[in-house]
Amino acid sequence: MSELLRDAWYFAAASAELKPGQQFRRFILGEPVMLARGRDGRAFALRDVCPHRAAPLSAGRQVETDGAVTIECPYHGWRYGPDGACKFIPSLIEGQPYEAGRIRTRAYQTHEAHGLVFVYVSADPRFEGAPPAPPVLDAPETAPNIVTTRIFASDMDNAVVGLIDPAHVPYVHSQWWWRPPSAGRKLKEKRFEPRELGWAMARHAPAANSLAYRWLFGSDVTTEIVFKLPGYRWEVVESGAKRLYTLTCLTPEHEGSTRITQVTYWKNAWIMDALKPWLVPAARDFLDQDGRMVDLQNEGLKYTPSMLWIDDIDVQAKWYLTLKREWTKAKAESRAFVNPIQPTTLKWMS
Ligand code: FES
Ligand SMILES: [Fe+2]
Repeated sequence: MSELLRDAWYFAAASAELKPGQQFRRFILGEPVMLARGRDGRAFALRDVCPHRAAPLSAGRQVETDGAVTIECPYHGWRYGPDGACKFIPSLIEGQPYEAGRIRTRAYQTHEAHGLVFVYVSADPRFEGAPPAPPVLDAPETAPNIVTTRIFASDMDNAVVGLIDPAHVPYVHSQWWWRPPSAGRKLKEKRFEPRELGWAMARHAPAANSLAYRWLFGSDVTTEIVFKLPGYRWEVVESGAKRLYTLTCLTPEHEGSTRITQVTYWKNAWIMDALKPWLVPAARDFLDQDGRMVDLQNEGLKYTPSMLWIDDIDVQAKWYLTLKREWTKAKAESRAFVNPIQPTTLKWMS
C-alpha cells in the first residue's frame, strides 16, 4: 500500500457510530485502528494492538484511571489514555522498575465536525506535532441526514477514479429517476479550476438530462463539484435557500479494499425530508451499483491490470494521479504543495 498518501486526514467513522464509553476496530491504510468515544464525549483513536502482547484494545473496555478516560486491554489489564500512553500496569508492585508511561501505542489525532470523525495519518507513527488543518466541510447542517457506507473490492486509486468518472453515469446509474436511458447523451462542457489540494467543476446548472435535481429543486438550481486529496468529493446543489450537500469520503482499508462513505446533508428542503424513507435505499442503491461494477471490473483486471484513459472524459483521473505525484514530490523536497492544475474547459458526451 506504498502509494497511499500519508500526512493526511482520512474519514474514520460517522459520529453516530461512536457511542460514549464504546469503541470498535476499523482498518485505515492497512493498520488496525481502535475508534472510541470516552464517556466525556471525546472521540479518540489508537492503534488497535496492545504493545504488551498484541491483544486488540478495542476488545477491552473503558475504565476511569485517576479520573481520566482509559481503555483497558482485555488480556492483562494494561490501561491506555487517548494519547496512547500506558497509564497503569496492574501487575506491578512498588519498587519494580517499569514505568507505564514509557509504553505507548500509536495515537491518531482526531477531528470531529458535522457528524463525522476524521483521523490524521502521519507518515511518522510517532508524530506528535500540529497536523495540517482538517478538511473544511461546507455542510449546511451539524449532523448528516443520510450516511451510507460500502466497502469496495478496489484499491484507493481505482476507487477514486471510479468516483470522479463522468462516463459511467448513464450506464451504471441508469435508474428512471436519475439518468433514464431515454434521456440520451448530451454534450457536456464544464469549466474546471484548481482548488486547494484538488479541483472544482465550477458552479453550473445541472445536466439537462439529470431529472432528480430538477424535480427536487426547481429550474434555477446550480451545482458545484469539488475533489480534494486524499479522497474527498463533494457536490453542493443550491436553489434559493434550499441546499443539498453530498460528501463522499474514501478511506483505504487494505490493499484492494476501500471504504466509501456517502454523507448527505440538506437544509430548507422539506421535499427531501418527506422523501427520506426513499432516499436512504436510493443512496444505498447508488453505492451498490458502483460496488458491483468494481467487482465486475476486477474480473478483467485479473488478466489485464492496465487501463486506458482518454481525453477529455478521463482528464480528472489523470489530474488525480498528477496531484498525488506532486504531493509526494513536495514532501520529499520539504516544500509546499503547488497545485499543477490549470483552469480548463472539458467537453464530453454523457
Ligand atoms: S496484551 Fe494487552 S495487557 Fe497484555
Ligand atoms: Fe458511480
